[in-house]
Amino acid sequence: MTKPVYTLQNGAPVTQDEISTTAGRRGPLTFDNIHLFEKLAHFNRERIPERVVHARGSAAHGTFTLTQSLSDLSIADFLQQEGQQTQVFLRFSTVAGGQDSADYVRDVRGFALRFYTQQGNYDIVGNNTPVFFIRDPLKFPDFIHSQKKDPRTNLPNPAHHFEFWAHHPQSLHQVTILMSDRGIPKSYRHLNGYGSHTLSLYNAKGERVWVKWHFKTNQGIANLSGEEAARQAPFAAQQDLVSSIDNGDFPSWTVKIQVMSEAEARQYRINPFDLTKVWPHQDFPLRTIGTLELNRNVDNYFAETEQVTFSPSNLVPGTGVSPDKVLQGRLFAYADAHRYRVGTNHNQLPVNSPRCPVNHLQRDGAMAGMGCPVHQGAGVNFSPNHRGDAPVAAPALAEPPMPLESDAWLGQFDDQDSDNFSQAGDLFRLFDDAHKNRLAANIAGGLSQASPDVQALMLAQFEKADPDYRARVEAALAKLA
Ligand code: NDP
Ligand code: HEM
Repeated sequence: MTKPVYTLQNGAPVTQDEISTTAGRRGPLTFDNIHLFEKLAHFNRERIPERVVHARGSAAHGTFTLTQSLSDLSIADFLQQEGQQTQVFLRFSTVAGGQDSADYVRDVRGFALRFYTQQGNYDIVGNNTPVFFIRDPLKFPDFIHSQKKDPRTNLPNPAHHFEFWAHHPQSLHQVTILMSDRGIPKSYRHLNGYGSHTLSLYNAKGERVWVKWHFKTNQGIANLSGEEAARQAPFAAQQDLVSSIDNGDFPSWTVKIQVMSEAEARQYRINPFDLTKVWPHQDFPLRTIGTLELNRNVDNYFAETEQVTFSPSNLVPGTGVSPDKVLQGRLFAYADAHRYRVGTNHNQLPVNSPRCPVNHLQRDGAMAGMGCPVHQGAGVNFSPNHRGDAPVAAPALAEPPMPLESDAWLGQFDDQDSDNFSQAGDLFRLFDDAHKNRLAANIAGGLSQASPDVQALMLAQFEKADPDYRARVEAALAKLA
């Protein structure tokens, strides 16, 4: 086989790739070392900023198969025909660690899913938990600062983790999940995914329903204890995903939704847009709608897993958001992060490029026209124009107007105390005796490092969820003391 000729970036052949040009046998270098300088300069620019959260991740391509038509609920083209298949890309991640941090830590796992539909990319950027730590996006940077490394020592600081949670009782439900057995999944294949937020769908009659997405693992939930996790190789979860797909053992999830009408939402005893709460299954049963399978590893980690830019603002006709404040904040945060982390034309990269025609009048910018079908060539770049060839909007696909509270007032409404404890308690009471003790021991491990004030605030929270919850954590703390 003829080997390809090594070239410079301008395509010209390189004549030597082992030895630099020097003045004489013993050096120094000369300024005509074009190949050397190009190589060193490009090497200096190999990294892009890592994600500010969820930096460590593993991803794969796959297929979503619709098993029950949702044409009654949505005009989304990928939700119409039973048996219809849509290509997907799914990235798992941990939250707090850097790009090369260990896979097996007690942390939430990201579950970011992209559907490449014929009407654009639809992203559900969720986690392996159905709820979240906060219900107001204003607290997100503070929350993340408390969970990431200590600014002085550059080490994780459990005292900071608990200090944030102690002052934000709204976190208790998610903290209970995190400290339970599900806090360290055995692999990315053995966890459920949740859209977590209340999202929406709308149909051809302009009727909207509120929806929660659930992705139930077909491999079964499996977890590791802290001791088992400590014995794992640092990147073993990534290895597990790559190997299982390479071996043809394709992981899959059963896709389910919960559906709530606008009328039900107005009457429901729980604020359906509160991200710290689930919709109990007995009130809103799960409806199975499809299967998700991962069946192809990435060819190039950087080009795909690193440069993929998921965003909750990537919606398609027939899908929408909800008034959930955290979701609304995320509609801004992700696209902004992508312009900084990858660049203004990140959607032209192959992993982000929609699998349908893209016609807009946004032009130019760094790296415009990166080989994708978005280079508008000689077309006029404003609308309307005399040639009449500018793209036109499609008002028939518009979402129905979003209902607000009937007497909505503009203001800063304090909902810090809107029942932070019932569902944390419900979850605690689901656990058997041994699981309750493991939960308490996991909490005590970190909480014992926090100040007495923080410990007292946390114990008061556990008490409100369930007196037995407090008793067990107190006992576990005493054991450590
Ligand atoms: P159900 O008894 O109908 O559902 C209980 C749910 O708890 C199941 O989905 C189960 O998941 C899940 N679960 C079991 N162990 C854990 C764990 N360690 N961490 C997180 N989830 C776990 O009860 P409700 O719907 O009334 O909910 C009761 C509590 O269950 C909630 O307060 C919430 O904490 C939790 N939960 C509820 C979900 C919902 O959408 N309603 C979703 C996930 C959790 P699985 O079926 O996979 O075993
Ligand atoms: C990643 C912000 C809440 C799940 C990110 C990123 C940012 C961010 C800036 C990096 C994006 C990138 O560089 O590509 C926020 C803010 C939040 C919030 C401001 C709240 C106000 C949430 C919630 C969830 C979530 C509630 C899940 C329910 C994820 C996931 C990723 C991520 C899975 C990784 C996506 C990927 O794999 O590329 N978040 N986030 N985030 N976030 Fe959030």
